[in-house]
Amino acid sequence: MTAVLGISAFYHDSAAALVIDGKIVAAAQEERFTRKKHDSDFPAQAIAYCLREGGIDAAQLDYVGFYEKPLLKADRLIESYLAYAPAGFASFLKALPVWLNQKLYLPRELDKGLGGRYKKRYVFTDHHESHAASAFFPSPFEEAAILTLDGVGEWATATLGYGRGNQIRLTHEQRFPHSLGMLYSAFTYFTGFKVNSGEYKLMGLAPYGEPKYADLILNHLIDLKDDGSLRMDMQYFDYIAGLTMTSKKFDKLFGGPPRKPESPLTEREMDLAASIQVVTEEVMLRCARHAHQLTGMKNLVMAGGVALNCVGNGRILKDGPFDNLWIQPAAGDAGGALGTALFIWHQLLDRPRVPEAATDAQAGTLLGPRFTNQEVKSYLDSVGARYQHFADESALCDVVVDLLAQEKVVGWFQGRMEFGPRALGSRSILGDARSTAMQSVMNLKIKFRESFRPFAPSVLQEQMADYFELPATQQSPYMLLVAAVRPEHRVAVSSNGQVRGLDKLKQPRSRVPAVTHVDHSARIQTVDAARHGRYHRLISRFAQRTGCPVIINTSFNVRGEPIVCSPQEAFHCFMATDIDALVLEDFVLRKEEQTVGAGDREKYLAKFQLD
Ligand SMILES: [Fe+2]
Repeated sequence: MTAVLGISAFYHDSAAALVIDGKIVAAAQEERFTRKKHDSDFPAQAIAYCLREGGIDAAQLDYVGFYEKPLLKADRLIESYLAYAPAGFASFLKALPVWLNQKLYLPRELDKGLGGRYKKRYVFTDHHESHAASAFFPSPFEEAAILTLDGVGEWATATLGYGRGNQIRLTHEQRFPHSLGMLYSAFTYFTGFKVNSGEYKLMGLAPYGEPKYADLILNHLIDLKDDGSLRMDMQYFDYIAGLTMTSKKFDKLFGGPPRKPESPLTEREMDLAASIQVVTEEVMLRCARHAHQLTGMKNLVMAGGVALNCVGNGRILKDGPFDNLWIQPAAGDAGGALGTALFIWHQLLDRPRVPEAATDAQAGTLLGPRFTNQEVKSYLDSVGARYQHFADESALCDVVVDLLAQEKVVGWFQGRMEFGPRALGSRSILGDARSTAMQSVMNLKIKFRESFRPFAPSVLQEQMADYFELPATQQSPYMLLVAAVRPEHRVAVSSNGQVRGLDKLKQPRSRVPAVTHVDHSARIQTVDAARHGRYHRLISRFAQRTGCPVIINTSFNVRGEPIVCSPQEAFHCFMATDIDALVLEDFVLRKEEQTVGAGDREKYLAKFQLD
């Protein structure tokens, strides 16, 4: 047996992944255990979980990999600070203690984190090598072009190359400070959202606006080449020297200062969102075309934070040169833990790789903890919860379908937790996508988040092409592709052109309005029997009953809270919100039947910082 542990830590989204004899045994983000969103501390609990799942002790690990090279990264930081001295001195001083204490002495930190039990060597892979490995090795392809795009790792901010068999090779790179991820984050900051977490909101806001500023971005901020590489005019940015993303000159170009977080969203932010989205898609498309020219391959795999831009991914699939696209579901830095582990196994140990062509080797990315019915029952009894138990799965599904069809909101907790930022039917909140009220009910009363944010549909793979404009064989099990609702399911909107900004939200756009964006797009998750088991059977039952194979799937959490991991967290979230029913494995809880006092909502929400 060869056991390889991968770790990512100390930047954001710490995580661990365990690969035994080439099989991904477990992977999880630290935030799910510590309940601190994007937790970047040493992933002690995620590691402990992975070892437990693998049934081994740290002393039995053969290799431990870390997802980036700390010295190279320090080199980049110091060099950048010096280049901008003395202006960069404030951020240099801010970062220095962390580097001196932790990052430069990583082996010592890792030893400590592993309780001194691991005595062998550490392997440090490049940040983008880790991303690339996480994209290619679990993919269903024998060979594929590789594209990684993020903010920054050591020096690289984007890489391009290919994978074949059990080896990957990165042939081209873009270097800091020029970075599509940083450019996108600059706009995240400027529109008043949190960098490294609010990027999703910016993408969700884009369809409400017009890309009025796209030319301004292309003419002033960046020099974009045909091959997708770019040079940024650093006068507009302040992320090297300062503590903010954008400079005064940036403010001037876009007619004012950044939006204050949590202040009302105006058309300006919507137009900025639309503009940076258009530019991002253009860069992604050019990179994809270049990767195709260089490799001549028909498959593309992607990772890095920018690969979570599912609108851009949808464009690559629709307008790009590749036949097939696979994206690592943990595309951000958490996925680097998996990448480094697989890199060690395949590339360094030269172990063969047999791609799983029908699906992939990511197992639906259901790689986290599971809880038995016995554990669920013990917990529910211990807190005096009222529940019904269903030994028969089809009876359970019938009850849940009834609830959904009555426009009830259902917390759905089943099997192993997802690895990566999206909930995919294991730790999800579900609702009826046909309901016109659902989007605002779920945003405002369940998730306590901004009303403009759209929800995503889970759709049966078999019927996906009846609803969305994608080829019937296209899979999107990880909710990383956006596609349009088919015209026959759209609803005509009165075309007086007077409805602007967020008011567009009030107009239903399709027969599944809760998951249809104002531009008729939807961020879809395809659900298939092989990967999704019970979740697939539930939606099948819903489709039989209602004729609609689409339901709303949103993550099981409130705003700022990491997705729930354990039955306890699910129960607390259920009690503190307006979720109507909770399904924990074979148990169904209804809110109105609970006799324990409702959770203190204010206190519950106060535990989590706004994201
Ligand atoms: Fe990254």
